[in-house]
Amino acid sequence: MSGSQLVVAAARRPLTGRVRVPGDKSISHRAVLLGAMATGSSELRGLSDGLDVRCTLDAVVACGADVTWSGRRATIQGGPGRLHEPPGVIDVGNSGTSIRLLAGWSAGMPWLTVLHGDGSIARRPMDRVAVPLRAMGAQVDGREGGRLPPLVIRGGQLRGIDYELPVASAQVKGAILFAGLAAASPTTVREAVPTRAHTEELLARCGADVAVRPGEVTLRPSPLGSLSALTLEVPGDPSQAAFWVVAASIIPGSELLVERVYVGQARAGFLDVLRRMGADLILEDEDHAEHTASIRVRSSQLHGTSVGGVEVPGLIDEIPVLAVAAALADGPTTFSDAAELTVKESDRVASIVAGLRAMGVKAEPRPDGLVVEGTAGAPLSGGSVDSCGDHRIAMAMAIAGLRATGETGIDGWDSVATSYPGFEEDLRRCVL
Ligand code: S3P
Repeated sequence: MSGSQLVVAAARRPLTGRVRVPGDKSISHRAVLLGAMATGSSELRGLSDGLDVRCTLDAVVACGADVTWSGRRATIQGGPGRLHEPPGVIDVGNSGTSIRLLAGWSAGMPWLTVLHGDGSIARRPMDRVAVPLRAMGAQVDGREGGRLPPLVIRGGQLRGIDYELPVASAQVKGAILFAGLAAASPTTVREAVPTRAHTEELLARCGADVAVRPGEVTLRPSPLGSLSALTLEVPGDPSQAAFWVVAASIIPGSELLVERVYVGQARAGFLDVLRRMGADLILEDEDHAEHTASIRVRSSQLHGTSVGGVEVPGLIDEIPVLAVAAALADGPTTFSDAAELTVKESDRVASIVAGLRAMGVKAEPRPDGLVVEGTAGAPLSGGSVDSCGDHRIAMAMAIAGLRATGETGIDGWDSVATSYPGFEEDLRRCVL
């Protein structure tokens, strides 16, 4: 995606009041896929309104689910008797979560599914899902022997597996568990480092027989139609909340409340990093059953830190905006053990370093991350930055632009529509 630009000037005023971010993207994808398998009518409110989730909705419609949606509400009816082989190729757009979760979902269906996406998707590694799905009995092929999309999946007749994730990935865990629903025997996924738990949380909500113990999830098969329909108010997306939390931290005089955000397993790590950096954060209205809280943030001078090790999978999507926080901090901030950044929507090590350098910040790439030298609160310089077609780079650079002396032009702004179409409106309302 390219061809559009947003120009951001320094914030004219502190960030105050409240903001409500879109529904969590990871939860939205999974709720749509489960709603399409369940018996009855699933009612999803507060769904992510980005193009990524729209691709997953379109995919289940192509497989016969009956979906009505308007804005952030969707009603889904699927299950046996409705679902069928998709008549054409399924286009996942820019959505890595769609292609990997759909690979597992389709592996459990007795038909052929072809999944493809845009130029960025064509470069994203798929062997991480192809290998376990083949071990379960699905036929999975793709470019370079199934390492790259398009993916061609002939599903059905699966057996359960006991699988240790070689990469900490909730998408892979989710794909295996979706396939495991249709297997003839139980499936166990083991993870050395906890990843986001949305698949197992939502499976339990639909009545699946899922047992979660530290480091492992075991699922007993649930034939199509045996899951119960979902009624869900999707909580706010912490990865989108992170943009506002960092913005309010670095814009002097700010006090902002980000309302009803999911803060469960492997999603709130960015708050720990920001606290370590000296951010002034308080969680309010905590709902432990729903794993939600509102985040109150007041501006403060941030300090450099080291981010690495087991905390990384729990904040990988927030590294672009944490790098912006680091750019305004005093001292260096090091991000390590984060080689996964190089295989996201863009090579995020390269795109963050290029974006920050264009704004006068000293940043160095490393094979497994990057180092950012902070300005100790001195404004950045405006510049021309490239989103590299990556929504999170575009939004992170817009937040950086709020603390720059000149204007910041962000090329490829339209990529933001994949996850947060209302971001620009929220930005204008809050600070511009
Ligand atoms: C996601 C998991 C993460 C994350 C992605 C969404 C999910 O990817 O970066 O944006 O919904 O499961 P990995 O599973 O590849 O780490």
